[in-house]
Amino acid sequence: MSSFSGNKFSRTAFRIAKRNLTIGLIGTCLAGGFLFAAESSGLGQSANSVSSASAKNSSPWWKHALVYEIYPRSFQDTNGDGIGDIDGIIRRLDYLQSLRVNAIWLTPIYPSPQKDFGYDISNYEAIDPMFGTMADFDRLLAAAKARHIRVIMDMVMNHTSDQSPWFKVSRSSRNNPKRDWYIWRDGKGPGIPPNNWQSEFGGSAWTYDPTTKQWYYHKFLAAQPDLNWRNPAVEKAMFDACRFWLDKGVAGFRLDAIPELFEDPELRNEKILPGTNEVGDPNEEQNRTENLPEVHVVMRALRRMVDSYPGDRVLIGETYLSNIQSQLEWYGGKAHNELQLPMDMQVGFIDRLDANEFRTKINQAETELDGYMPLFVFDNHDNTRSWNRYDDGKHDAAIARIVAAILLTTRSADLMYYGQEIGMVTTPPKTLAEVQDPDGIRGWPKFKGRDGERTPMQWDPGKNAGFSTAAKTWLPIPASYKTVNVQLESGQPDSLLNWYKHLITLRAENPALRDGQNIMVNPSDPNVLSYLRKNPGAGPSVLVAMNFTDQPQTVSYNLQAQGIQTTHATALLADQGAAKEVDLNHVILPPFAVFIGTVQ
Ligand code: GLC
Ligand code: CA
Repeated sequence: MSSFSGNKFSRTAFRIAKRNLTIGLIGTCLAGGFLFAAESSGLGQSANSVSSASAKNSSPWWKHALVYEIYPRSFQDTNGDGIGDIDGIIRRLDYLQSLRVNAIWLTPIYPSPQKDFGYDISNYEAIDPMFGTMADFDRLLAAAKARHIRVIMDMVMNHTSDQSPWFKVSRSSRNNPKRDWYIWRDGKGPGIPPNNWQSEFGGSAWTYDPTTKQWYYHKFLAAQPDLNWRNPAVEKAMFDACRFWLDKGVAGFRLDAIPELFEDPELRNEKILPGTNEVGDPNEEQNRTENLPEVHVVMRALRRMVDSYPGDRVLIGETYLSNIQSQLEWYGGKAHNELQLPMDMQVGFIDRLDANEFRTKINQAETELDGYMPLFVFDNHDNTRSWNRYDDGKHDAAIARIVAAILLTTRSADLMYYGQEIGMVTTPPKTLAEVQDPDGIRGWPKFKGRDGERTPMQWDPGKNAGFSTAAKTWLPIPASYKTVNVQLESGQPDSLLNWYKHLITLRAENPALRDGQNIMVNPSDPNVLSYLRKNPGAGPSVLVAMNFTDQPQTVSYNLQAQGIQTTHATALLADQGAAKEVDLNHVILPPFAVFIGTVQ
């Protein structure tokens, strides 16, 4: 089956499914802590295990990476302007080290008119003064490295800002040397664009430029003109920008909107589909502007370039794909010569606790990717936070623990988004006047945009949640900060933050959770998702069981087919109240409970 067969997801469709979600309240706090059995002496120490782990295991670091996405505007402000900055990230590196993240991905911090909050870049080889200086960035790299934390840059190769010097030249005349760096075409008549392609952010994807009386193409805002990747000079310029950062020592790139690199050269219309999208435009197929086969040629060239650097630099793709076959293509298939980690959006964005769906998707990633590591993700700066996509209004905290457990106990590299670990909730703007995101301005009131998942990090119960000393922060601080914050949760044994920390520790240190095959067990149970992480050596394996319902469930396991003889499991981590020793013939799981235990 071809992955270009028309049933792929568009990014718009993706976001449609997520709008207008109800905001859940923080669940009740349990008394006491979780049942957590520390296995090795390393637990509780702040030292990040990157170096020791890679010494033990020669596989590249990214295979087991926990990558933490930082939205710099919202992480930590140090100069009091209400917007986060590079110094703020440096200030919080100790926290990130205590979380044991292996890498941070910074959404764009390059000079930008900020029309799409940094995703409109006007200079690819500099730092926006709003965030600091290049010297600050160099200090960040060094300070992160000292804590074994790698830095991954966001690379926007599909488009630039309309304020980029490249575009300014390009639009200046029809015959300038950079004219063909962008996609200029004649219209179909006065005021009629070249075809029916739509912008992700609403309206036509073409804007008329009176200077030269032609239209330019933009998949996103008019302020984000698409580069013409059929021009080799574009590839050269963009690869040079990548080299600039690789030479500095960054660990790799998160490739923004990468399936959108190429468009149909014949400019054929997209097929119109029934219904309308989040901003009220008719739904359109995305076959002429996404996932064109040419993009894979560029990915192979980019991989060769990145591989010419020492130190296992990594390429992560923003790949919203609808099926496992196209996922495999982004790795480069059997040759594995494209991205190391194209994001898997199929597991994290199921958006309901459906045991069968999760089982199928996780199992596909395990068995149909030719052994490559999937990169799972539940949260990012473009989607309603997972807390609000999976909540039921009653068991939200327990459900958030399930989300964390799926992310961190499956065989996968993992992406986390700041605030996910403390249970930050989506806090959409209340009035149109408050909206910052251009997507929200266009979509209001039906679609309120992405501000809700971009609110400032909640560090403590003090002023502005410890994010900033400013009178006004760029987005308001959510009301939840008094109880949902790093400082408070650090001291609560049963907090979501401590749940994440326990899971991250297990994931890094337990050999079965680190390297074991992911085998589904009790595959026809509609209520409880269970899998075994099979120890690759002779040691114990790990059984993970999660009750996806609001009713207690009793399950029994026969793991003999998997070579497990014992009839008992010993808890490694479980919700409060769980027994240390569990009879595998009779496992009682309270509503939305998680049980993680060793079996031999
Ligand atoms: C990616 C980014 C998103 C941005 C878009 C256009 O999807 O994650 O935030 O708006 O690309 O650059
Ligand atoms: Ca494009």
